[in-house]
Amino acid sequence: MSKPNFAPLKLFITGPTYIRRDVKEAALLPEFGHRDAENDLRFGPIRENLRKIAGCGDDYEPILCLGSGSSAMETSIRSLVAEDETLLNVSVGSFGDMYYNIAVSNGKKAENLKFDYGMPIDLNVLEDKLKALRPQVVSFTHNETSTGVINDMKAVCSLIRQYGAMPLVDGVSIFGGATIALSDSGAAMYSTATQKSLALPAGFGIGFVSGEAEEKAGRVTNKGHHHDITKHLERARKNQTLTTPNTTLANMMWYQLDRIVNEEGIENRFARHIEMRGMVEKWAAGLDGFEMFVAEGFRSPTVSTVVCPQGVTSVQLKETVKEGMRDEGYLMDPGYMKLNHLLEEAGRRPIFRVGHMGDIMPDMLAAYLDALEKELMKL
Ligand SMILES: Cc1ncc(COP(=O)(O)O)c(C=O)c1O
Repeated sequence: MSKPNFAPLKLFITGPTYIRRDVKEAALLPEFGHRDAENDLRFGPIRENLRKIAGCGDDYEPILCLGSGSSAMETSIRSLVAEDETLLNVSVGSFGDMYYNIAVSNGKKAENLKFDYGMPIDLNVLEDKLKALRPQVVSFTHNETSTGVINDMKAVCSLIRQYGAMPLVDGVSIFGGATIALSDSGAAMYSTATQKSLALPAGFGIGFVSGEAEEKAGRVTNKGHHHDITKHLERARKNQTLTTPNTTLANMMWYQLDRIVNEEGIENRFARHIEMRGMVEKWAAGLDGFEMFVAEGFRSPTVSTVVCPQGVTSVQLKETVKEGMRDEGYLMDPGYMKLNHLLEEAGRRPIFRVGHMGDIMPDMLAAYLDALEKELMKL
C-alpha cells in the first residue's frame, strides 16, 4: 500500500482534539478479552480515575456507553424519562437543541426552552417555565460548545430540584478540563465523552449515574438494550462494558487517565484550562474590532468564542482564514456554521471558536494565536 498523504494538522477545533504521542503509543499495549481478568486491569483504574476527575467518590457509578457523548445522553433519556412523563430541555445553543431532539426522536413528550445565543440559562425564566410545565425531568448543557457558554450546573440543578424534577446534564465538552464537583452538583446523571477535554479518540460515551437515577431506571420501560442503565450498571460494577469495547481505546484511556490524575494532577489540569481562557481573552482584547462573544463569568474554560469586526463574514472565516491556517499546519474552527448563519441573518457579526481543551498547552495556544492573528489581519 502506498503511504497516504494525510496532513499532520494540529487540531484547535472543539473535538476531536490533539492527542499526545505517548497517549497514541499506549494504543500499542496488548489487546485483551473484555470478559477476562485482564479487562479488570484496564477498566478498574479507568473507573476509579473517572470518579476522581468528576469529584464524585462513590456517589455516582461511571458507565461506558459504546459510541460517543450522545450515546450516553440518549441512554439518560431512554432510561430516565418514563412513557407518561414530560421532559423540559433547556437550550443555550445547538448542543442544547440536540438533547431535545434526542428526546423527541425517542418518542418522549418534550418541550425546549431556548435562550439567546451567547447567553447562559436565566434562572428566573427557567423558574417560570418549571412552574407552568411541571416536568418530571429536565435536561440541559453544562458547557455549550457552539457558543462557548458555561452554565452554573449547581444553581440550575438546585432550581430544578425545588420543583421536584430530575436534572440530566450534558457535560460532553468540559469533563476533564474543569472542576465538575459532581457529588455536590445535584445532577441525577451526567454524560460526557472521551474525545474532548480528556484528549482521547472518540469511542465511549461516559455516564455518571446516581443512586436515584438507578432506582428510577429500574421502573422505566422500553429502554432498549444499549440505552438501558440497569444493564450497564450490572456490568459496570464488574468493571465491564455492556457490549464489546474498543480495547485499543481502553488501553489509551487507562494510560491517559492515570497520567492526568497521577502525573499532571487534576487541579493543575483545570488551572491550565483557565489560564488558556485568559490567554484568548487577553489576545482578543488586543485586536481591533474583535471581542469575546460571551459575558465574563459565563465563558467556558475549554472553548472560547470571539466576535469578528463589522464586515467580516462567516464565508471569509471558513474559506480564507481556516484555509490559511491549514497552510500553517493547523485545523482552525471558523465557528459553528449553523449558528453563524443565524447570527448573520439577524444582522449580527459572526464568531469563531478557539478550542483549548484537553492536552493543548499554553505555549501551543500562544503559537496558534500568533498564526491566527496574522491570518485575520489579512482580511
Ligand atoms: C456539548 C456537546 N454535547 C453533545 C455533543 C455530541 O457529542 P458526540 O459527538 O460525542 O456524540 C457535543 C459534540 O460536540 C457537544 O459539544
